[in-house]
Amino acid sequence: MSPKHWTLLFAALIVSSCVSFAQEQPQDQNKAVIQHVPISATSPASGKQMFTAYCAVCHGTEGNGNGPAASALKTAPSDLTQLTKENGGKFPAMKVSSVIRGTADLPAHGSKDMPVWGELFWSMSHGQESQVQQRVSNLTHYIESIQAK
Ligand code: HEC
Repeated sequence: MSPKHWTLLFAALIVSSCVSFAQEQPQDQNKAVIQHVPISATSPASGKQMFTAYCAVCHGTEGNGNGPAASALKTAPSDLTQLTKENGGKFPAMKVSSVIRGTADLPAHGSKDMPVWGELFWSMSHGQESQVQQRVSNLTHYIESIQAK
């Protein structure tokens, strides 16, 4: 398989919380199951759209770290609204970009369950580095915009 194919098949994550099976299996009602699905394309211009499509499943739609997949993970997803507070009042833009790209040393990003977004974005934009940068930068700006005051 060509590398391009390989990365396109690389999965994004969705969660089926088994609610639909609740009647047959009441005991599994709240068990989150992570499924790998083909990643869907989004506009590189919208940080919010990308966040909703790729990040909210773990980090939550508001970024608080309480997405539906959170309970299925060994490491709890970070509350992305607290990054400025935790960094002494300055938004850590460089760190956030490198976590998204996959160059930061963060075990939970880049593990089996968590694709390295830099590679996915690269395949999505057919190797156009400028578009990868635009995606990472707009996601970073979006996360900056949701910081708790
Ligand atoms: C499969 C679940 C999952 C998905 C999907 C996911 N993350 Fe994460 N993320 C995590 C976990 C878990 C951590 C905590 C890692 C750790 O502490 O080692 C984390 C940490 C982070 C951090 C570091 C925060 C800090 O405390 O410095 C950033 C930034 C981040 N994620 C951004 C994103 C963005 C942007 C997306 C979407 C493109 C995304 N994540 C998608 C699970 C996920």
